[in-house]
Amino acid sequence: PSVPRFAVPLPIPPVLRPVSTEDGTDRYEVRQLPAEVEILPGRPTPIWGYEGVFPGPTIEARSGRPVAVRHHNHLTVPTVVHLHGGVTPPDSDGYPLDLVLPVGQHRWPGHHVPTGPSGHGGTAGVAHGARTYRYPNQQPAATLWYHDHRMDFTGPQVYRGLAGFYLLRDDAEENLPLPRGERELPLMITDRFFNEDGSFFYPSLDPDLRERPGVHALFADGVRGDTILVNGAPWPFVRVDGARYRLRILNASNARSYDLHLDPPPPGGGGLVQIGSDVGLLPRPVSHDSLYVGAGERYDVIVDFSRYPAGTSVVFGNRSGAGPTAEVLRFDVGTRVADDSAIPERLGPDPEPFDESQAATTRTFRFLGGQGGLPATINLRTFQPDRVDARARLGSTEIWRITVDPEHPFHLHLGHFRVIDRNGSPPDPQDTGWKDTVQIRGGEVRIAVRLTGYPGRYVLHCHNLEHGDMMMMANYEVA
Ligand code: C2O
Ligand code: CU
Repeated sequence: PSVPRFAVPLPIPPVLRPVSTEDGTDRYEVRQLPAEVEILPGRPTPIWGYEGVFPGPTIEARSGRPVAVRHHNHLTVPTVVHLHGGVTPPDSDGYPLDLVLPVGQHRWPGHHVPTGPSGHGGTAGVAHGARTYRYPNQQPAATLWYHDHRMDFTGPQVYRGLAGFYLLRDDAEENLPLPRGERELPLMITDRFFNEDGSFFYPSLDPDLRERPGVHALFADGVRGDTILVNGAPWPFVRVDGARYRLRILNASNARSYDLHLDPPPPGGGGLVQIGSDVGLLPRPVSHDSLYVGAGERYDVIVDFSRYPAGTSVVFGNRSGAGPTAEVLRFDVGTRVADDSAIPERLGPDPEPFDESQAATTRTFRFLGGQGGLPATINLRTFQPDRVDARARLGSTEIWRITVDPEHPFHLHLGHFRVIDRNGSPPDPQDTGWKDTVQIRGGEVRIAVRLTGYPGRYVLHCHNLEHGDMMMMANYEVA
């Protein structure tokens, strides 16, 4: 169906209310539900949503204050919830085999279902109907997100709507004069195909997502839809004052990356002032004309719309798209208003300088295949739940060389990293800061991975979700 652009206002996902805040913990209940929503004008779209909405409701959390989320699976298939960017104990991390079976289901027939009562290397095993995920939040303010992570079926389950924001805040950040309230916009960017009746089109081999994983061979390099959604709405518009806005950009697309820029650029350029990366604030702001955002990455940016005359329409364009996918969102700039926000010179602490000779070890992970009918491999192997591919020491920092062909978004659970170099050259300006995901466009990126948090088994994988489902994933264990 042809969808008009810039015809619907940008929705903001609802914020979830805790059911209790006693004992210093914020407790939430989330039902994973089938629902029908209106995404295209006049046509219903069946989704699977946390609390029946897409994006799921936003969880607002505080650093140092634990959150417990009890997820109830009212869907027809197993689910797994992962808090992306969270430093989470292994039994709450959403290991892809730690399934939550649908309410009322006592066993699940598919392959890849562990039989033992509890899982692998300290992970949690299978739960019946519901599971409580515990997040200690011992990490600084950041834009995190939660999404489905079921083994073999993450791509289709996220595509049906199982993704939401988890905004972690802290005092240090709140003491900065950054734009807030109505002038802080979470932007979850995704892409979808639609059938004529308004339903999502996803090329699963098994439309019921029960037994046979994978997608039609034409989509083996990832499903990139022709309709861009922001917070679940197609090419929305948003009216903004002539003032500074904080945009929390999240690419929650299955496979597509975006080269985002403001069109027209503000006079003088440098319109996207980055203040944060995946897992926290940068030490200092960095200005960009464009940002290349891979699947799973977050960029926290300030745009000062007072640099535009009132009445200007500014399109968030995507230089790596063509035709309709070259546009994402439109800002309609209003009159200049009083604005007491500012972009401070200093945002977060400077990271301690990293001395390569202090690295506990150097490892290489080669991401190869996933296209043209080739298997999706890391170091020439596909994922094997019982095989540990790397063993690391808790508290150490390691250098990881990630080499890819041709392009893959690399992500690991638990550990956060800094980019050391790309193909031997200094990192890109947008690589600054602590990250958990990095888009690699050919060649090699070296990262310094800090392995703090909790001992246990975690995964690293390609965040092109179709590649992940084709088992471009590996286990690593910290002890
Ligand atoms: Cu956002 Cu293991 O994933
Ligand atoms: Cu990949």
